[in-house]
Amino acid sequence: MLPFLLFASAQNPEMVRLEDMDLSNVRQGWGNPMKNKSVDGHQLKIGGASFEHGLGTHAVSVINIDLGSDPVLFRAMVGVDDEAGPQGDVDFHVLCDGVEKFNSGVMHLGDAAKAVSIGLKGVKKLTLRVGNGGDEINYDHADWADAMILHYGSQPKTMAIPVEKPYILTPKPPRLPRINGPEVLGARPGRDFVWRVPATGDRPMRFTAKGLPSSLRLDKETGVVLGKAPRRGTYTIALTATNAKGRKSRKVDLVVGDKIALTPPMGWNSWNCFATAVDEAKVRSAAKMFVEKGLVDHGWQYVNIDDCWSIIPHSNDPVLGGPQRQPDGTIRTNGKFPSMKELTDSIHKMGLRAGIYSSPGPTTCGGYTSSYKYEHKDAQAWADWGFDYLKYDWCSYSEVLKPEGLGNLQKPYRDMRAALDKVDRDIVFSLCQYGMGDVWKWGAEVGGNCWRTTGDINDSWDSMSGIGFSQNGHEKFAGPGHWNDPDMLVVGWVGWGPQLHPTKLTPSEQYTHITLWSLLSSPLLIGCDLTKLDDFTLNLLTNDEVLAVNQDRLGKPAHRERVVGDIEVWTRPLADGSYALGIFNRGDGDLDARFSASDVGLKGSARVRDLWRQKDMGVMTSMSVKLKSHGCGLFKLSSVR
Ligand code: GAL
Repeated sequence: MLPFLLFASAQNPEMVRLEDMDLSNVRQGWGNPMKNKSVDGHQLKIGGASFEHGLGTHAVSVINIDLGSDPVLFRAMVGVDDEAGPQGDVDFHVLCDGVEKFNSGVMHLGDAAKAVSIGLKGVKKLTLRVGNGGDEINYDHADWADAMILHYGSQPKTMAIPVEKPYILTPKPPRLPRINGPEVLGARPGRDFVWRVPATGDRPMRFTAKGLPSSLRLDKETGVVLGKAPRRGTYTIALTATNAKGRKSRKVDLVVGDKIALTPPMGWNSWNCFATAVDEAKVRSAAKMFVEKGLVDHGWQYVNIDDCWSIIPHSNDPVLGGPQRQPDGTIRTNGKFPSMKELTDSIHKMGLRAGIYSSPGPTTCGGYTSSYKYEHKDAQAWADWGFDYLKYDWCSYSEVLKPEGLGNLQKPYRDMRAALDKVDRDIVFSLCQYGMGDVWKWGAEVGGNCWRTTGDINDSWDSMSGIGFSQNGHEKFAGPGHWNDPDMLVVGWVGWGPQLHPTKLTPSEQYTHITLWSLLSSPLLIGCDLTKLDDFTLNLLTNDEVLAVNQDRLGKPAHRERVVGDIEVWTRPLADGSYALGIFNRGDGDLDARFSASDVGLKGSARVRDLWRQKDMGVMTSMSVKLKSHGCGLFKLSSVR
């Protein structure tokens, strides 16, 4: 007998189906909640059994329901939808007023649906949650089939997800000049060199540079440095910036030798906003925004085109189709990129650097011409066009060699390294193959300056935090010239084009994103439409003390120091003998947490500085912090001695 019959009264209770409620309040890790369908739009099916009614969702998902005045019963059949792949495993939870009443345990593809039936008498709030089964959220298609609430009183309703208001922590930079950015730059002898002194403060500003090698020229008004890198050696350059308020100096070491990317590259990439909708005008306007919005004053430098600039083989589209190569084998751009050379010239004039993308396979992930069998030709073309950064994405290379065994995994990257070594240009070599074969263990050996450690990021908490917090252990493999890359930033307006939306990360989650990526010495590639930069996003991207952690010349990424419940503490040593400490709250509620000088190995007390607020907190043995749900704090701890 069904429990609700126990409450039998003269009337039968009313029934409301989950999928008939307001689904705009459903939060989920991927896709949209689907009425009477799986998340991919097929008939709901669990373990071979089909269901006519229910809600198709995707881990990690949460639905809060206000149960109204007289609820009776919740019931459903739950499980992984049959359309999911083998990695699809999830766990279902039902909470009544915050207390767990049902936990399915981890369910896998093909498992028979589990029945849920929970009496709701006296309960005010019902929470339906789907977890990721303990791994990433890939293919976690989760069904609440035949899900319904029986009630007598007022109608149960889904509850709006509380919206966190943006809060700005980064103080405005002083009006006096201040020179920002890394303390060390790498270049190879005789190669083209482009840099722009990053400096905040009132304009107009004038720049001077003592000790600048004679092969380089400084534009005194803009701070743009152009020319050729000199002979091998370390050149300490004393930079000075002067404006109406005063002057400030700082030294930077130009190390001319075999290594480039001595600190993680910082810039922008077209993929997370424009994807296939990228074109030259969008890239030009991104570069313009670097200057107009002041990103250049904080060290942002690379303007990178991702996929979709070459020809689509066999396409009839007059803009995207046509011969893939010139008669001499030189790769051709599609109609959206009429002149790469003019584009990079204009980028270099601003003191910025330019990036391009290809695959070792016959086509890119988007189906555009790439470099298989033309590695040397393409490296030469990119050098001739003036590119300074190459993202080299595995994509269709599996058609050439199976992604098995270290030999196969390394081959395309060794080949392209050999081609890049032949051209007369400093080109950052960014490996993208999603972490296959533990690439962090050999990315440097095959000549990579950075390597993606994971699949693609998206702008959800589960994706960003799942990637970010799983980087522990990789830190030992990174250092000046070779970096782990947990993928690009998903703050601001993103969307994989042409339609964009504001990131779905909450403000606190975005602080966690930038804090964690800074601690990890990750390349920082902004993924949003820079023409839509708002004050909050700009505050995230222009905090010089936070960026200084990412750009620290010691180049030792953070590791996870400790975990207590939902709180994680990550630490790293810095070049000046101090330490950076990030403290994170991965839980669903706000928390009080504490960190200590001993977390970074300091005995007794430490001088503590809050880096986001750029504020000294005093000398202490430990400090308590209030952390918002999914939020964090970033501190610098130095010895008092
Ligand atoms: C993916 C890569 C993305 C983006 C995309 C372009 O493989 O991980 O970052 O480059 O290809 O098609």
